Amino acid sequence: MQKTFTILKPDTVSAGKAGAVLSEIERAGFRICAMKMLHLTEAQAQGFYYVHKERPFFGNLVKFMTESAIVAMVLEADNAIEKLRKVMGATDPAKADNGTIRKQFGTNIERNAIHGSDGPETAAFEIGYFFNQLEIVR
Ligand code: RTP
Ligand code: MG
Repeated sequence: MQKTFTILKPDTVSAGKAGAVLSEIERAGFRICAMKMLHLTEAQAQGFYYVHKERPFFGNLVKFMTESAIVAMVLEADNAIEKLRKVMGATDPAKADNGTIRKQFGTNIERNAIHGSDGPETAAFEIGYFFNQLEIVR
């Protein structure tokens, strides 16, 4: 079993689609190990996405991620990191496969419904950024 980290982004939560996206996640076979809702500050969003700080889209990304509430979760499954990336679909919803979360719920390459860790190191960093050990249900 492997753990990964996901965020239901502000577009999903504000549209009242958190439950629908969570349903897709559960249907795909993930176990929810931790979950919290929060409204990120600018500094918290910058810290989370620091790997992208030199990218041209960084300012817009931080603005988007702080515009309203998000839901952060730790998920568990076999091969969870890769599996979640498949269920999410491509970064640009227009290029995502049919049936993926981003195809169904994303608007454009920025407002794309969901975040998922892209590797074991990022998953460990991202889980620790949002949750302490006591908050992760075994
Ligand atoms: P994420 O980290 O959120 O799971 O998304 P990802 O791996 O599929 O894509 P990544 O390259 O890590 O980009 C992080 C987020 O930045 C926004 N973005 N905007 N305007 C643009 O060209 C652009 N490119 C990326 C998206 O919200 C993307 O998910
Ligand atoms: Mg990424």
